[in-house]
Order: sequence, then C-alpha cells, then structure tokens
Amino acid sequence: MSLQISNRAIALKPSASIAAKKMVSDLQAQGHKIVDLTIGEPDIQTPDHIVEAAFAAMKAGDTHYTPSAGTPALRAAIAAHINREKGLPAKPENIAVGCGAKQLIFEVFSATLNEGDEVIVPAPYWVSYPDLATLHGGKPVVVICAEEVGFKITPAALEAAITEKTRWLVLNTPNNPSGAIYSRDDLSALGEVLRRHPNVWVMTDEIYEYLSYHDERAPSLIEIVPSLFERAIIINGMSKAYAMTGWRIGYAAGPKALIEVIVKMLSQSTTCASSISQAAAAAALTGDQTCVREAAEMYRRRRDRMVEILSDAPGLSPRAPSGAFYLFISVANLIGKSTPDGKELRTDLDVSLYLLEQAKVAVLDGSAYGVSPYLRLSFAASMQAVESGSQAIVAAVKALC
Ligand SMILES: Cc1ncc(COP(=O)(O)O)c(C=O)c1O
Repeated sequence: MSLQISNRAIALKPSASIAAKKMVSDLQAQGHKIVDLTIGEPDIQTPDHIVEAAFAAMKAGDTHYTPSAGTPALRAAIAAHINREKGLPAKPENIAVGCGAKQLIFEVFSATLNEGDEVIVPAPYWVSYPDLATLHGGKPVVVICAEEVGFKITPAALEAAITEKTRWLVLNTPNNPSGAIYSRDDLSALGEVLRRHPNVWVMTDEIYEYLSYHDERAPSLIEIVPSLFERAIIINGMSKAYAMTGWRIGYAAGPKALIEVIVKMLSQSTTCASSISQAAAAAALTGDQTCVREAAEMYRRRRDRMVEILSDAPGLSPRAPSGAFYLFISVANLIGKSTPDGKELRTDLDVSLYLLEQAKVAVLDGSAYGVSPYLRLSFAASMQAVESGSQAIVAAVKALC
C-alpha cells in the first residue's frame, strides 16, 4: 500500500538547525573529531535549584496531567515576571504554557492564519518562522535587513511590507542568528508604524532577552509601546536563559481571547506540557536569578574570544553581536576563492562544507536564515571549542587562494 503524504508535509522543510545537529552527531558517531559551532543551546547544566524543584514535584506526586494552559503556579509566576520586568498588566489568564516556545509559535499561527494571510518576517530570521507560517496556510513576506542597518527592520521597510493581507509582524530581539537588539528608539519608531495599521498583530520572540551584552535585558516592543499588548503575543521560554532546552517549556502572553484559542489548540495536541518541567520552570522564574547573569557573562567572554581570534582571518571582519549567542559573519570576501584542492567557493553553503572538511568545524550557512553569503557560528560551546574551532577556521581561510 502506498503511503500518502499530505501536501502540507511535502512542502515543509526539516529545521535546518536540527538537521545540522543530526549531521554533526552522525559524523561524531562515525569517529570524526568535529568542533560543533552549530549549537543553538546552552552547553551548561540546568542550575541545581531548578533540578531540585523537579525532584520535589515528582516526590510530591505532581506527575499528572495539568490544565492545558499550564499549572496555576506557573501561569501566575509568568504573569508576575512580565509585570515586574516589563510593567505590563499580564494576568494568569493572559498566559499559555506549551512544550517550548516553538510549540507556541506553531499554535499561534494555527489559531490565527487563513490561506494567503501574510506574515512579515525580517531576515535574517530564525529558521522556523517562514516554515511554520507556510504550514498553516500563511504567506511569509521576508524583508531583508542588511548588515548596514544592523540586520534590523526599519520603519520604512515595515511600512512598505504591510498590505491588506498582513496578519502578523514577527519581531525577534535579541535576534537569532544576527544577535541584533532593537533599541528603545528602534522599537518606538516601529510602534509608530504599527499604530497606523491597527489590523496588524505583532509576535515578539523574546527568548534571548537576558542574553544582552549591553544591558541586563533587551527591551521588548510591548513594554515600549504598551498599547500594543491588545494585539500582540509575547513568545518566551525557559530554554536559553535557564539552560532548560530539554525540559521543553515555553509560553505565550497576550490578549485573553487569543490565549483561549491557543489553549484549545494545546488541548487537542499535547494536552499539556510536562507537570514536572512546569514545576521546575516556576522555580526558575521565582528563584535566584544569579545563574542567568552568570551565564550571560560566560557567553560574553566566549563571544569576545571568538571575535578576537577570527579577526586574524583574511577577508573576515567579525563584529561582536549585541545579544544571543551567535556570530553572524559575512563571507562575501571568500566567495570566488579556491580551496587547496582546486574547488571554487560559490555560496555560503560551499564555505560551510569547506570548513567542515578542511577545519573539521561545523557551522551553519546564512541561506538557512534568509541572508547570504553569511555563516552563523555559535558560541554556546565550551571556551575550548570556541578557541580551537575559531583557530581552525582562521587556518582554513588562510589556505584559500
Ligand atoms: C529565536 C528562537 N525562538 C524560539 C526558539 C525555540 O525555543 P524552544 O526551545 O523554547 O522551543 C529558538 C530556539 O533555537 C530560537 O532561537
């Protein structure tokens, strides 16, 4: 019997970052020594007090289904966190908890998009936004944001991208992969444009908010323009700030009417996020935040070291990103060069494959993020991996002619 695959599934690409992770693991399993700079997750352990809270929850019998929206304790902790940090009037009814931020983005599009609805996605973008919009019948409208404008969408570019069919603007700050952070002024200027278009909603993905190397936290569009809270969804989660990727807890904060629809979708998909992970997440949000500051400091040191080493590579001009844990670097000067065995580098994918072969360093090509020719190098790897990987890249670049 032949297997029928839906048109939706056929059109869907696998996540580029997850595919890269698998490729590196396969190579490592075959015995190749690869320095992995594709990683999109903290390499450190989840802090002990969070793990202890999970143990305590299990021992206390907290091992059953929870409400689809999340446990009352976690929803209250998230709402209080948003109140405290951003001064927004979030209540537990404004919060939906899911299995990672990615699930919430999936459910938001599922809950709101009809065929042909447009979703403005500034590029470089996190790999999943266009695919998740397309999966739900939406049409991603990709707006290229050049390095010269700091990889950020300008008010004029936003204005030009908005049409009658625009449903969402997706704004990710700090950004994966560029590390760009929208300043308060940037955000209020974008807010001005959105004020003129009351039918456009905004999804702000703030998952890297505490990985900001200028201030303790990157500002949110919704705290700068609070009136947008009525037509915004804040996406966030525990993965990056608390090194909790495997616990799979993310959340959406927005108007009650939209949250209710999202919760209905959750009730028909995963039922609820893990009760144990939710207890751990509540402990993370209500506990001591020193671990978050320490992690940001550690990434800053790795970032600085990576930039310092890569500055020696002819043709590369690394710039320290303002946030997140990635360096997004132009390889325009390497295109057209030849490898020692005579192959011409035509694209950023060619460059990344050359680095894998020659330097034994895995990185991601910019085309996966909608902007070429660039590479994304993660510094969420140990200092030793950051140093040896960057040095090997410099040697491989020097070997080009
Ligand atoms: C910008 C961005 N948003 C969302 C996510 C998904 O995070 P989660 O682990 O909470 O699903 C990621 C993960 O890499 C990300 O980089």
